[in-house]
Amino acid sequence: MAGTGRERWTSKSGFILAAVGSAVGLGNMWRFSYLAAENGGAAFVVLYLALTLIVGLPVMLAELTLGRGAGKSPLQALGHYGGSGWKPLGGLFIAAGFLILGYYSVIAGWTLRYAIEALVTGFSGDAGERFSAIASGPAAVAWHVGFMVVTVAVVARGVSGGIERLAQILMPALFAVLIGLALYASTLEGGGDGYRHYLSFDLSEVMRMDVFTEAAGQAFFSLSLGMGAMLTFASYMDRSHDLPQESGIIAAADFGVAFVAGLVVFPVIFALGMQEQVGGSTVGALFITLPTAFHHMGAAGTVVGIIFFGALVVGALTSAISLLEVVVSSGMDAFGWPRARATWIFGGAIALVGIPAALDTDLLGLMDQVAGNVLLVFGGLLLSIFVGWVMEDPIGEVAHGTSGIRWFGLWRTLLRYVVPVLLGIVLWNSLGATWTALVGYFGS
Ligand code: PHE
Repeated sequence: MAGTGRERWTSKSGFILAAVGSAVGLGNMWRFSYLAAENGGAAFVVLYLALTLIVGLPVMLAELTLGRGAGKSPLQALGHYGGSGWKPLGGLFIAAGFLILGYYSVIAGWTLRYAIEALVTGFSGDAGERFSAIASGPAAVAWHVGFMVVTVAVVARGVSGGIERLAQILMPALFAVLIGLALYASTLEGGGDGYRHYLSFDLSEVMRMDVFTEAAGQAFFSLSLGMGAMLTFASYMDRSHDLPQESGIIAAADFGVAFVAGLVVFPVIFALGMQEQVGGSTVGALFITLPTAFHHMGAAGTVVGIIFFGALVVGALTSAISLLEVVVSSGMDAFGWPRARATWIFGGAIALVGIPAALDTDLLGLMDQVAGNVLLVFGGLLLSIFVGWVMEDPIGEVAHGTSGIRWFGLWRTLLRYVVPVLLGIVLWNSLGATWTALVGYFGS
């Protein structure tokens, strides 16, 4: 690639599908619906949508503007517009990439294992026992490493030949499959209570500060914001892209998948009368209750379950790819390494980072807490300040490729005042909770 300039997406839809692939992942396919059901149902969905509009979309647009404007990976892009004083923020993104992909790949490894085992033997009747048996230990390490190898193999093939091509094949398939599953779930007897549980409107829940914090953290994680993933992808595009429009498409697709996944999960669980077993953890709902439900649904359940977990693997893979690409593109830019070398070296290092998480699920949960509720929110806060206050003429840059008035003044105002204040509040709250979790894990 050297000498011929930066790699490029071959088409606009290729970029959009890759970005949607980054956004759609484990985060929305199980965490979203679980949080909604626990925290006010439809009221949570409304709160989540509002946060996506007021905070998520402006930050996404900021990342795309920065990445496209600089045409460089995060570290260099921040240095390009802000001078070397801002480079540590790029370092934070890379650290977040290591941490998140480290444990994300462990969960993806469980998912892959469920999908493949179900193909061979069906789902276990005692999924709780099965899950404790596979969640941590040497086998969990092996599946995690296996998943990392697949991720590396795609990223090593490059932006258009690997990342874009895979997204073009897999993302449309994922949409089709999810809609099919939701339609199937709607035919289940007794599933109606599942919809009610998922979506009953409870305003009192969303008035709580911790729910607000959760919703904001979830929006950031689900939209892949706050660690330069969207920025990196945008660095491979040209100026003909309409960034506000494409941000809207990406956010809408991300929300759509999250919402529809809930329309699959809850009817299935309630039709089987298993709501009592959903328990207090997001992982439990996905890896224990749901597989048990599939088991009790007989042959149809096995087929549906394999498709569901297969779709989860696809979502996880396209997200993991974008996490790795942040680190790889930084390595290529900073050290001048060829792509293949950067991919294998960093992929290998991230696989190592994930091993402790594959041996200890409490540590995995802690990594998720630190990354999702602190690092991404902090990264988003600094990004909004950077594009709102430091970057020269972001409106001039974002305007390329658009036609007509696009509310750019409002965008900048949100980035300057509203987003930093809201994220500051969120960060303040989640720091407390994260500190408690850290002390709980490491203390005494
Ligand atoms: N958005 C992905 C998901 O929902 C996770 C992710 C976070 C990917 C941050 C890239 C960057 O699963």
